[in-house]
Amino acid sequence: MNNIRVGIVGLGRLGKVHAQNLATGVSGCELTAACSLVETELAFAQKNLGVKHTFSSYEEMVKSSVIDAVFIVSPSGFHCDQVRLAMENGKHVFTEKPLGLEVEDIKKTQKVIEEHPEQVFMLGFMRRYDESYQYAKKMVEDGEIGEITLIRCYGIDPSEGLESFVKFAMNNDSGGLFLDMAIHDIDLVRWFTGQEVDQVWAIGKNAAYPELDQAGELETGAAMMSLSDKTMALLVAGRNAAHGYHVETEIMGTKGMLRVAQAPEKNLVTIMNDQGIIRPCSQNFPERFREAFIREAQEFISCIQEKRQPAVNAEDGLQSTKIALACQESFDTKSLVQLKK
Ligand SMILES: NC(=O)c1ccc[n+]([C@@H]2O[C@H](COP(=O)([O-])OP(=O)(O)OC[C@H]3O[C@@H](n4cnc5c(N)ncnc54)[C@H](O)[C@@H]3O)[C@@H](O)[C@H]2O)c1
Repeated sequence: MNNIRVGIVGLGRLGKVHAQNLATGVSGCELTAACSLVETELAFAQKNLGVKHTFSSYEEMVKSSVIDAVFIVSPSGFHCDQVRLAMENGKHVFTEKPLGLEVEDIKKTQKVIEEHPEQVFMLGFMRRYDESYQYAKKMVEDGEIGEITLIRCYGIDPSEGLESFVKFAMNNDSGGLFLDMAIHDIDLVRWFTGQEVDQVWAIGKNAAYPELDQAGELETGAAMMSLSDKTMALLVAGRNAAHGYHVETEIMGTKGMLRVAQAPEKNLVTIMNDQGIIRPCSQNFPERFREAFIREAQEFISCIQEKRQPAVNAEDGLQSTKIALACQESFDTKSLVQLKK
């Protein structure tokens, strides 16, 4: 079978990781094209990854005949438009999370995706492709911990990146902490329980950088949720973990509990020195989810080759954005928000 020819849009923090994986770590595909607004990023793709065709216009790339599929890793506000354009031009589409920032825009996009069932569409919730999360999911499905009563999630970026985030946030819109970060945990809660969220109450605090108040952004936020079967979820999202990239999930059930990444350990090395006993932590998302990013890209390519649709779809994109927006509304209005059916 011929290699699937992929074009990537966005070669920033995450785009470079995906581009590297598609060029060298994923079988059955070839990274033939790249699109970015940054000249040096395109030069990097050509020189380091052997990408043959580079574009500064997404529209040109998506209309060209040198690709069969697109990998969208541009800023979140572009995703919906770019998904629709690719679908309408006959390309298979992978897009990073979130699918979109507005519910109506996502619904419009979902309709276009549904009109092209022969093209693969996949949304990038890579934690579902992490081996530990898959193991935990199987245990839940096998009834090992009984009925789920509560899920607790931490998703906190390292403080190392906070200063540059503050500068970015004063002039740009990330979508907000819940849509940008907590959305991974929102997806995990839906995935593990198979339930939708009924009610949310969200709070937050800016302590290290109070100026984030003016930007309408949050350094640390928390949300409490009630699901349709009364299962509870507690989510903590943040951008200020001093020790590294802290992702942790705990699932409580009637017969037991599961905890994924109690401490986000980098490897099996323990350092013993004058500071005590130290276990190094993962420092960023490309390190913690290195394998998961490769596995999700492999799944996208396999779906195209095997003519099937992946498990993470546009409905997951719609529901997760709805829940994240409800968290933001709850924080903004200081009130409990009931999700519309
Ligand atoms: N799955 C995860 O854990 C995870 C982690 C980080 C980022 N993300 C998602 O990935 C996306 C990108 O994030 P990032 O941090 O890599 O962004 P970034 O700002 O570092 O990079 C953005 C890239 O998009 C390009 N770009 C911007 N506008 C464009 C346009 N109109 N046409 C073509 N190219 C354009 C830029 O040139 C740049 O290459 C976001 O949607 C974010 O939510 C997901």
